[in-house]
Amino acid sequence: MSGWLARGDEEVPAAGAEVGGWLSTAERERLGRLRFRKRRSEFLLRRWTAKHAVLAVLGAAGGTGEPSAALARVAVLNRASGAPYVLLDGAPLGVEVSLTDRAGWAVCLVGDGPDAVGVDLELVEPRSDAFVADFLTTTEASRVHARPPGEGPGGRSELADAVWSAKESALKVLGTGLRTDTRAVEVTLEEGGPEVGPLGGPGWRPLTGRHGPTGQVLPGWWRRDGDFVVTTASVRPHDPPALLPTSGDLARAVPVEPRPAEPFADVRRRGPG
Ligand SMILES: CC(C)(COP(=O)(O)OP(=O)(O)OC[C@H]1O[C@@H](n2cnc3c(N)ncnc32)[C@H](O)[C@@H]1OP(=O)(O)O)[C@@H](O)C(=O)NCCC(=O)NCCS
Repeated sequence: MSGWLARGDEEVPAAGAEVGGWLSTAERERLGRLRFRKRRSEFLLRRWTAKHAVLAVLGAAGGTGEPSAALARVAVLNRASGAPYVLLDGAPLGVEVSLTDRAGWAVCLVGDGPDAVGVDLELVEPRSDAFVADFLTTTEASRVHARPPGEGPGGRSELADAVWSAKESALKVLGTGLRTDTRAVEVTLEEGGPEVGPLGGPGWRPLTGRHGPTGQVLPGWWRRDGDFVVTTASVRPHDPPALLPTSGDLARAVPVEPRPAEPFADVRRRGPG
């Protein structure tokens, strides 16, 4: 696994008429089809993060002031399934990536070859009993209910959100996303033992996803960073992802409440004052 990188919403150039210098033509076209301000912001944040991750892997990373021209060389497009792929100067890069965002932060995972990879970022927040019953397997649910309530490390929310996140990572590897029943993948997190990885803050711990209908095993990693949990998955065992240069510090990130899902046009029409 090549690496992962996190970036925050506040550094992304504001969406508006001026946006686009750092996007490829195809990305600008997709942005143009997104009418809701929240969707536009999330799309831009995921592209901003993925482009910096790819440039970091290529050894071409600068800081947050990466020239627009360098960022625009990297195009992060989508297959018909929705799964992302990367072009560099219009040619396939030859490595898989996965993208995710939550509460004003995004993460990109860059694989080290053609194997599909999955990453998912979640805020550690309370999940209802109904959520746990509907989306987790009975084994996962009983592990969650065995935990003390709360959002702290080792608490019920952390486990519920990490299991949910690992399912999303696994379903991204399978390329189906939530078209597949989340209970088709059973997740086991390794919670005790030493943390793995030379990274700042808490390190990665192993997890395993098992797709029940096919028996396919999807190994991955999970970590707690401040208010967030991050999970990864792939089709074969892999080293914990290294933190790429120029990543933001997710452990210190302040989650941003989602912006209202109002049409971008409405926001502009209101104007100043
Ligand atoms: C994959 C999925 C679970 C992620 O949803 P989410 O938790 O709300 O969003 P995240 O921020 O974690 O991830 C979003 C990214 O997932 C990736 N993604 C979307 N569909 C994917 C798929 N089938 N396989 C792998 N990755 C996928 C994309 O890169 C997307 O970001 P992008 O559109 O900017 O490229 C959800 O999008 C899904 O179920 N998609 C499939 C069903 C669907 O409606 N697809 C639309 C087809 S165009």
